[in-house]
This record gives sequence, C-alpha cells and structure tokens, in this order.
Amino acid sequence: MASVKSDIPNGIKSSDRSALIPFSSRLREGRALAQDVWSIFNAANLPSDCINLGQGYMNFAPPKWVTKAAEDALNTVSPNHYSHPKGRPRLRQAIKDQYGAQFNRELDIETEILITSGANEGQYSVFTAFLEAGDEVIMFEPFFDQYLPSVTFNGGKPVYVPLHPPPHSQAKPTSNDWKIDFDELRHAITPRTKMIIVNTPHNPVGKVFTRTELEKIAALAEEFNLLVMSDEVYDCLLYDNKEHVRIATLPGMWDRTVTVGSAGKSFAATGWRVGWLIGPPSIITPTLAASTRIVFCTNSPLQEAVAAGLELVNQHKFFETQVKEYQERRDVLLEAFDRIGLQYTHPEGSYFVLLDISDVVFPDDYPFPKSVQGRGRDFKACWFIAMEVGVSSIPVSEFYCEEHTSIGESYGRFAFCKDVDTLKAAGGRLQGLKKFMKAKP
Ligand SMILES: Cc1ncc(COP(=O)(O)O)c(C=O)c1O
Repeated sequence: MASVKSDIPNGIKSSDRSALIPFSSRLREGRALAQDVWSIFNAANLPSDCINLGQGYMNFAPPKWVTKAAEDALNTVSPNHYSHPKGRPRLRQAIKDQYGAQFNRELDIETEILITSGANEGQYSVFTAFLEAGDEVIMFEPFFDQYLPSVTFNGGKPVYVPLHPPPHSQAKPTSNDWKIDFDELRHAITPRTKMIIVNTPHNPVGKVFTRTELEKIAALAEEFNLLVMSDEVYDCLLYDNKEHVRIATLPGMWDRTVTVGSAGKSFAATGWRVGWLIGPPSIITPTLAASTRIVFCTNSPLQEAVAAGLELVNQHKFFETQVKEYQERRDVLLEAFDRIGLQYTHPEGSYFVLLDISDVVFPDDYPFPKSVQGRGRDFKACWFIAMEVGVSSIPVSEFYCEEHTSIGESYGRFAFCKDVDTLKAAGGRLQGLKKFMKAKP
C-alpha cells in the first residue's frame, strides 16, 4: 500500500484506520458507551471464588417440565421456524388463560397480547411506537438501567423522580418506606410528558406499590393524558402476603396502560428472552408494528416451552412453591445481614435486597481500580466488599441520574435469586464485614 503523506481534513491521520466512521451520538446520550456497572462488577474482574450476588440471574435451572417442553419443541418442525410477529398462538392463549382473570377481562389474543424478545424488547418497541423526538418519559429512581437507553435511542427524554428512602436512623425499614413525593411527581410533568414507567414489584428496592400509590399515579395519568408502562416482570414474587395491584385494572386505566411480563423471571429462564405485553389494541397494534420491524418475531421453540410452562403452573402449584422458595432465600440473606448489624431495606417483592453500606468503612488508599474512581461512594464500597469478603453486589447509584447519585450511594444491591447453599455461604462470608464497620457512638 502507498505510504500516506498528508492529514485528512478532520485531523485524523489517514493511516489511522481504527475509527474511520463516527458512531452515533445516541450511544453517548444513552450511557451506552460509559463503562456500565455490569462490566465493572463482572466475574472476570473479581476474585475467581467471589460469590456473585450482583447480577440478577439465577444459579439454578428452569423446572424440568419446562425444559422438557423446550426439547420437545426443538424436535418438532414448526417451532424451529419463524413465528407470527404477534407471538405463537399457543403462548398467547396460555397468557390469556393464566392472566386474564387478573385483568378482570377476557383478553383478546389477536389484539391485546404481544409476545416479545424479553420484556426489554417489548419495552423498547413501545418507546419506538409512541415517542416523538423530545417526548418526556417519567421514571422513578432507582430505575432499571435499560430504560434510559431505550428511551433516548428512540428520541425520548428521561425525567427522573426519586423514590425517597427512609432515613438512615430508621430501624428495620421495609421497601414500603421508600416513598413517592406526589408534589414532586406532579411538578415533573410538563406539556411534553408522554409516558410514565411504573415498576412493581420494584427492582432494586423490592417495593410493591400500594393500591393508594397506584391510584394517585393513575389520577395524574388521567389528568395529563399519559401512557403508563407498568413493568410487572416480578409479578410472581411477592412476599409477606403483599397484594400485587395491576394499575391496568384501576378505573379507566386499561385504555392507557401497557403491562409488561417476562418468562425469564417467572421460570428462572432469563436467557430465553421471552416476554410479553398486555394492553388495549390502541397500544398493542402500533407496538406490534414496531416490534415486527425490530426483531420480526421472538424465538419460536422457547415460546412453545413457556406456553407449556404456563399451561402447567397450576397443576404443579409452581408459582406458590416458587414464591415460598424465594422467601426462604430472602430470609437467609436478611438473617445474615442482621447478624452483621447492618441496616437493609426489607424487600416485599422481586429478588433484591438493598444493604445500607454507609457504615462500611474502607481505607482511602485502598487499591481501587480506575473504573470505580470518580463514581459514587457505593462503587468503592461494593468493590471493597467483593475484594475483602468475596461477595459481589451492585452499587445502586448506577440506577440514578447524576443529580441524584447521592441518594443511591448509600446502598449495595444483593440479588437472592441463588440457591440456599450459595446464599448461606455468602451470608457466612459477609460476617467478615463486622471488622470494617463504623464504630457506633
Ligand atoms: C424491572 C425489570 N424490567 C425488565 C427487565 C427485563 O426483563 P427481560 O429479561 O425479560 O428482558 C428486568 C430484568 O432484570 C427488570 O429487572
């Protein structure tokens, strides 16, 4: 190749071919380029024997009768091929049969249920279908981190309203002590507000929104004509006899609400990427148009398996048993936190516990990697905990906008979607934190 003598106009030496094509600024706006928390607190960066309570996936398999249905589907011709973009009829029917009564209606499987490639793609498709450039989307902090890029990639503007944590001094707080300031929520609404995202049971707080809270959100949605995205992927994981209220069932709300579900959470199958949306045709039809052009259809064999799973849950009393198992897992971890003497938010749903790590002290000159420098205090605390006691967690300030980092900085998120032995082992190791705790006055 001829040697290159001159610079090209944009100042890049033409011999440098490492970044010829500028990438889109939407990657920056959506924090897609920032080193995300998952890659920092990745097993590859942590001690090899570190117990991973960071990422929210299970270390156990889906039920045998569901994986068997997946095998059967792979061994049958039709489920190895494209499905209808709406999703396989058998799965839409199974969703109708399992969930219709919870929506107090006969769901129409042709127009009111859409199968998506995980909840995530369903949510993305709703944003594609409904957002115009500059439309504002309200999300409560801490928020599931995918919301942000999904909104900004589609031209939307996230508007953050924090859930307010209980004071550090409050003994034994529960997830219900994380409160919405409804004046703050009202003030966040502008003429550009198009949507509000509600997530109940909540990741990472474990909050189960009360009927009263949802009624107040519903009243604002009615007053300002907002589309409500109700992310209910943890709808089968509620503890302490808490009631799961679907905002879509409140008076007048069906017509403006899309409810999001995930087989990943329901059947311990997060890698299967099967989710669904339930809502009125006015929301599902445009979303189907978007989803069809984004993924065309969701993988077919695992849709069949999830359909078989939903058909059999009642016979196996699966959700009833599963929630008991999760409650036991939760209690193993909470009991370990009690023994250390650290505060935590007692979660009433989902599979996360927020541990208050503001009383964990670590030396300023600890050899922290660059990736956690300059981030919230929680990044250093979670790193320190992983290195010193061998249990990984996720710093919660990642789920806040920069302006509100200080709220999240006090917490580490520990996932309990792990088997009891792993949680017991983690609980044992975490006792090692006692020697790093701030002395009580
Ligand atoms: C609140 C919330 N919504 C949506 C999702 C995405 O679910 P899926 O894996 O089905 O895309 C998750 C996954 O962690 C979540 O926590």
